[in-house]
Amino acid sequence: MSVSLSAFVRGLPKAELHLHIEGTLEPELMFELAARNGVALPYADIEAVRRAYDFANLQEFLDLYYAGAQVLRTQRDFHDLAMAYFRRLHADGGVHAEIFFDPQTHTERGIPFATVVEGLLSAIAEAERTLGVTCGLILSFLRHLSEEQAFETLREAEPWLDKFIGVGLDSSELGHPPSKFARVFAEVRRRGLKVLAHAGEEGPPEYVHEALDILHVDRIDHGNRALEDATLVTRLAREGMTLTVCPLSNLKLCVVRDLHDHPMKRMLDLGLRATINSDDPAYFGGYLLANYVETARAVNLSRYDLIQLARNSFTGSFLPAADVARHLAEIDAYAAQNPGELVAS
Ligand code: ADE
Ligand code: ZN
Repeated sequence: MSVSLSAFVRGLPKAELHLHIEGTLEPELMFELAARNGVALPYADIEAVRRAYDFANLQEFLDLYYAGAQVLRTQRDFHDLAMAYFRRLHADGGVHAEIFFDPQTHTERGIPFATVVEGLLSAIAEAERTLGVTCGLILSFLRHLSEEQAFETLREAEPWLDKFIGVGLDSSELGHPPSKFARVFAEVRRRGLKVLAHAGEEGPPEYVHEALDILHVDRIDHGNRALEDATLVTRLAREGMTLTVCPLSNLKLCVVRDLHDHPMKRMLDLGLRATINSDDPAYFGGYLLANYVETARAVNLSRYDLIQLARNSFTGSFLPAADVARHLAEIDAYAAQNPGELVAS
């Protein structure tokens, strides 16, 4: 008996651990929100938006990503954006997500912190009620801004701190090492929140060392360039540090030249707790399921690898231990009920 790769992965219970909610803004919704809010877009039509998504590096993407976010203005906009993502995650067989939002992208242009957060929180409640999808929210600082601005954002976030599961660090990596934010993340940890940082996407292995030793992160977002440092790889494997890897993002941002060159298989074979995620799927051409299936085809992930990746997505999550155990048992039951060989369709 054989089973299709995409049907097998769709049915596999999975969590998404690296997703920027602003990066789920599909061109169709961008146009709808622009019309709703009277915002002028620099594109003639939806096809023109898609044609513009041709990036040579992270910064070229970020320039369009921040421009696209300008259409998000009201609580309802943030709610609709997040609900559209949860529906897609659910359709892909995702059951849990831990998602980033970038408050500074919005507060810098006069949108109140409360508008952003309340819109996202209402969608999270609706997704749990209507889809059975659970979600944790991660506030992310923009690393191209100053540490003082990150402190200011933390002060603005004060009334909602118990609603967040962690605080992350994203945006332009090169020239903005984790050490730039040492003091503000010490304060985040003092508040009992988990700490994450994008590191080793474009930045060198040294940035991953800094994220571990200076920020004391609970997860590394991306981490690809850690593979250049054998001592670091040994340490990440020994400590069971989760890497939230994003294959289609890596392809679109030229972190890898071809998906066949993607290090996902190597990461798993090295014993790293790697996970598969979609990062900014509206810009990179695929949500969670597409990331699994296209990577599996490109680097020959086995049935065992796919099950391991789904397991890693829960063991690497910030869910309570009892919930992790329940999801792992669901994966085991699913694997037992679907024993066939996988065929690449
Ligand atoms: N913000 C949104 N997506 C990002 C990525 N892949 N790297 C850094 N910052 C981001
Ligand atoms: Zn990211």
